[in-house]
This record gives sequence, C-alpha cells and structure tokens, in this order.
Amino acid sequence: VVSSLVRAETTIYQGNIFHFTDDPSINSNAYQYIENGGLVIEKGIVKDIISESDLTKYQDRAKIIDYSGKIIFPGFIDLHIHYPQTEMIASHGEELLEWLREYTFPTEKKFSDKAYAKEVANFFIKQLYKNGTTSALVFGTVHPESVNALFEVAEREKMRLIAGKVLMDRNAPDYLQDSAESGYAESKTLIERWHNRGRLSYAITPRFAPTSTPQQLELAAKLLNEFPGIYMQTHLAENRKEVEWVKQLFPQARSYLDVYSLYGLNRDRSIFAHAIYVDNMDLQSIAKAGSAIAFCPSSNLFLGSGLFPLYKAESHAVDVGFGTDVGAGTSFSMFQTMADAYKVIQLQKSMGENTRVRSLSPFKAFYLATLGAAKSLNIENKIGNFEKGREADFIVIDLEATDLLKFRMKHAKNLEEQLFALQILGDDRSIYRTYISGEQK
Ligand code: GUN
Ligand code: FE
Repeated sequence: VVSSLVRAETTIYQGNIFHFTDDPSINSNAYQYIENGGLVIEKGIVKDIISESDLTKYQDRAKIIDYSGKIIFPGFIDLHIHYPQTEMIASHGEELLEWLREYTFPTEKKFSDKAYAKEVANFFIKQLYKNGTTSALVFGTVHPESVNALFEVAEREKMRLIAGKVLMDRNAPDYLQDSAESGYAESKTLIERWHNRGRLSYAITPRFAPTSTPQQLELAAKLLNEFPGIYMQTHLAENRKEVEWVKQLFPQARSYLDVYSLYGLNRDRSIFAHAIYVDNMDLQSIAKAGSAIAFCPSSNLFLGSGLFPLYKAESHAVDVGFGTDVGAGTSFSMFQTMADAYKVIQLQKSMGENTRVRSLSPFKAFYLATLGAAKSLNIENKIGNFEKGREADFIVIDLEATDLLKFRMKHAKNLEEQLFALQILGDDRSIYRTYISGEQK
C-alpha cells in the first residue's frame, strides 16, 4: 500500500540534468550537469537530483519519464515583457518615443475591453510556454481589467507570474491616462485581490518617469511602503531623447535613475528595464539598493536604443536578468534574446572602448536567464534552479530540434559548445516540453 502511494506521488524525469547554483562569472563551479540523471519531483516540488545508478533504486517507487539525450533545465524567467504588445511585435521604422505614439498607445487602448484582454492573455501565456518561459515580470496597460485578465489566466495555470497596472498620468493620450489618485486606488485594489494569491505577485508599474507626475511617483512609493514584498517595475534610460526629456522634466535629479531614487522607487524588488545610459554612480546606487536591471538586447537593437554595458553592471555587482521586452523585443524566445545579447557584447568588445569587455559565455547567458533572474526578483529560494524544495518549473531542451542544430551538435566538443549553439541557433522548436509546478503544459 505504501509503495503504491509513493508511486503515485513521485515522478522522476530522466535526462541530462543541468542547473546553476551560483554565478559563473564569480564561481568556476557554478553549475551541475548530471548526464543521464534524474530530477525527482513530488507534488510540484523538487525533491532531489539523482545519478543514473540511483535510478534503479527508485524503479518500483516512482513513475519514470524518459527524456534521455535531452537536457532538463530550469524554466526561463523573463524579467521584462508587455503582454498587451504581443499583437504589435515587429512594428516598423521608429525609435522609442515615436514608436510609443504611433504603435503602442493605440494598441494598448484596446485593453479597456476585458474580453479582448483575456483573449490576448491566453495567447501570451501559451507563447511563454512554447518558448520555455515559466515565469515573467509583466506590464499590463493602464486598465485594471488588463491585469485581472492576465492574473486569471496565470492563476488557472499555477504559474509564478508578477504583473501590474501601468501608472501614467501625463504625457500620454487622454484615453490612456489615470490620475495620481485613481492610479493609487486601482493599484491598491489589484494588490489586495492578487498579491500572494497562489504563486502570483503584484508589481507597482509606473510606465517611465516622463509619463508620471511627481505626485504619482510619490503615491507609487507609498504603496511599496504599505505592502511589503510587492515589486516595482519601470523603464530606465533606454533612449537618448528619452534621457534628455527626463532631464527637462526633473531638473533637480542628478541622473535619470536619480529621479526614481528621489521618489523612493529605487529599492529591493525594483526592476529597471534597459538601463543603457547609466553611469558608475547609478550602478553603485542600484547595487546598494538591491534593485536589478532587465537587459533587453533584442528590443534595444530593434528600436536602435543602444548597447547595454553588461560588463559595467557586472563590475558593480548589480543583479541582472534578461527581458525579451515584447513588443519592442522581437521574440519570446530566451535563446534568441541570448543570441542578441552575445552580439551586443561582441560589438562593445570590438569597438574597444573598454578592454575589460569579454565575450558573453553561454554559461553566463543560461545563468542570467534562470538563477540570475530569480536572484534579481529575490525569489531564488523558490525558482531558478533545482535545489531541494524549489518549485518544479522546468523545461526539456531538444539539442537536435532542427537539421542545422543536429548537424552542428555532431561537431560540438563539449557542453559549452552545445550550449552556445543552442544560444545562437535555438528557438521555440528547441523547447521539447515545459512544466509548471510539475505539470506538463
Ligand atoms: N518606455 C516607456 N514605455 C515603454 C514601452 O512600452 N516599451 C519600451 N521598450 N520602452 C518603454
Ligand atoms: Fe518595455
């Protein structure tokens, strides 16, 4: 009787188990790779990682699912993405501020309609799964219903998702503006409804400094003080014209980041997207506050925004993860995002302004996409790797999903070369399975 009970509860996923326990730029022993091992899952939680020889011990006690030859890896975590912009991905020709006016704001207007928002939210979550992304920090629109729609889907899916309603009370079309007071009240209602419900968390979401009045930023900080454990997400120093505009709007601030610092929004659990135009003082301040940066390489290339200096952030020990930033980003795929990150860093390296720039190693890239992002969100005790007790969000990666990958893999000499080929050539076809809380999606 006992053994059949255990059998029902324990599942072992057999394959090449791979995960990070530390940052590979700091620790040369930062990962574990167990060839033909097993990931032991009970009730949606990681119980153990076992070697091939231990598999036989479990044989009558657990259900074994065979993914031999494939890599079993923690699910990807996307630190910055806009679900309402899914339908406007690949919009031609503009830089940030014009792109917002021409494409983004008219699209976001549609999300006052809850039924429409729900339809997009369902499609969006499926795209995340297809690409092996099991957690994300997500922008809604200014409409509270847009956030209700997304959280309803994520709750049904038992997904660890963080999202928030955009705050925007100036410099935007009337149809997309809240007020400092209504934005505060609506955010508060959403927090009370959704924060810490199952695996969901709320993020206070001022769009960026230019679209919030000082009063709105103050009230955003008030919410952070009233609800410990909630997040703050915004955009920071993405585009040169944007940076100039912020200088005019907030002449008292030393820098763009300093606007957020002055209003109490640069703190632990604050995530800044882009952060391209930051100086050493800014990076020091981010490291000291315990906030983090979402590096969005595809978006930064697509909008012509600039090149994020990862090496500088690293030298200040700033927490960093990747953001796809769909719809300015051009792919939901973390592989494609990591490929663009590699190229961005190669450009900085060849332009030679700083001899400390080193090529992005695939280990670092896969770390940033999982444990690095979890650390940025302060939830590395919940997700990001396979240590005992972690929530069972994981993916199964097929190294040979396309003819080209298969051909290239034959000539890969070691794990590093395999991972790099995946990073550069991989996409949604390389994601063989996605599991959330131990459930196959
Ligand atoms: N800055 C302010 N809003 C946005 C947005 O929606 N996308 C990007 N990439 N940058 C922004
Ligand atoms: Fe963005």
